[in-house]
Amino acid sequence: MYDFAPANIADKLTLHADLLTAARAVVDGERDAIANMANVAALIWQYLPDLNWAGFYRLVEGELVLGPFQGKAACIRIPLGKGVCGTAAATRATQLVEDVHAFPGHIACDAASASEIVVPLVHDGRLIGVLDLDSPVPARFDAQDAQGLEALCRAIAPALAG
Ligand code: SME
Repeated sequence: MYDFAPANIADKLTLHADLLTAARAVVDGERDAIANMANVAALIWQYLPDLNWAGFYRLVEGELVLGPFQGKAACIRIPLGKGVCGTAAATRATQLVEDVHAFPGHIACDAASASEIVVPLVHDGRLIGVLDLDSPVPARFDAQDAQGLEALCRAIAPALAG
């Protein structure tokens, strides 16, 4: 049994540091990418407040395909360059979206989503997929979240590469 839990009182940097520690531990010694994505999605859901969706899209045969996640059922396939996820994948740059309704081509999977952050997952120069977090709170994500989630993706990408 795993018994990871965020500290009761934690500033955002501490929370991301704790999440990173837990994520490293949960993927340690496991080589199945899907299992690792599932556990990391669960940890993100547990550690970070104000989320309505958290999970992965995997790059499969040139398009993004829904991977392990927490939240409501979501759209399954996203072409590169489409929506927030497809833009992050095509540019390999984190997309920090304060207002999803203002993002051209945003794909609405859950009407509750107000803001979103998508971080590309790259291992050995190869795009594996993206990490996608949605929030019902406008402008929920900031530069600290981007840095924390980018560090997380860098650290665990080898365990998610399959
Ligand atoms: N909003 C995303 C689609 C995925 S869902 O949010 C889970 C997008 O625009 O790519």
